[in-house]
Amino acid sequence: MGTTPVRRICVIGASGKLGRYMVRHALDRGLEVVGVCRERSVPKLSEFADRITVVPGATNDPEVIRRAVAGCDGVLTVLVPWGVQQYSSGTAQAVLDHAEPDARLVFSCGWHISRDGGDRYSWKLRLAMRIITPLARLVRAVDVNDQVEACRRIFASDRRWTVVRGSDLEEGDSQGLPVWSRHVGDPVLASNLTRRVDFALFMVEALTDDTLVHEAPAIVGRRSPSALAHAAEAERGATGP
Ligand SMILES: NC(=O)c1ccc[n+]([C@@H]2O[C@H](COP(=O)([O-])OP(=O)(O)OC[C@H]3O[C@@H](n4cnc5c(N)ncnc54)[C@H](OP(=O)(O)O)[C@@H]3O)[C@@H](O)[C@H]2O)c1
Repeated sequence: MGTTPVRRICVIGASGKLGRYMVRHALDRGLEVVGVCRERSVPKLSEFADRITVVPGATNDPEVIRRAVAGCDGVLTVLVPWGVQQYSSGTAQAVLDHAEPDARLVFSCGWHISRDGGDRYSWKLRLAMRIITPLARLVRAVDVNDQVEACRRIFASDRRWTVVRGSDLEEGDSQGLPVWSRHVGDPVLASNLTRRVDFALFMVEALTDDTLVHEAPAIVGRRSPSALAHAAEAERGATGP
């Protein structure tokens, strides 16, 4: 683990499910939190009342982001491909442009994002992406390619970024920090399931883990069958035959 000092953070997309889990983890750690969300979603943050500062606005509005990230040592960004107005890439660009020079920047996305083309996807995921991507764009609901563009810009940046790639998600109590691997298709990830609360935990922990700078970890729940099998194998390897 690195020793990046983090005191004040910004959560962009704070009102969503992942966002609210991240706010909770951050407050539990005694961090000062600024949250950005759409004006109409501000009530979804009422549980945090006067414990956080809320900056209402579109997350791809550079002026909103500039105000929100000022003075923050870390920025946690929920990248979502909503609509067809460059929501993801606009959000990522605003963060890259306006975050403090040394801030730790942690972005969320899914396994479908590939950094180096070394990921091996199941036929189910490949088929789903082939069908969903054009259909979703056709009805102007989601533009997955814009999330791909957002990540391309992040990967090309010399900022201190991490892109956390989430597996399928489920609700439930925390199982602890997820395990990760560089490539989808690695056996440890085979279970393809993470608790959303733990996805958020990984994002918050990444703020102070410098080994994750310029990494795109693909994560899976630490108590998922594939993670447990991998841990047992590592243990056997450590103790020898
Ligand atoms: N869902 C999955 O199974 C899954 C799997 C792998 C990875 N991920 C990744 O996890 C992250 C969040 O996933 P999540 O499922 O937990 O979602 P979430 O936290 O509920 O986040 C949804 C976000 O999208 C915003 N949003 C919703 N509709 C919008 C619209 N029309 N225009 C603009 N913003 C809108 C929400 O803001 P409001 O509060 O304002 O609505 C919220 O900030 C994403 O990065 C995603 O790629 C998800």
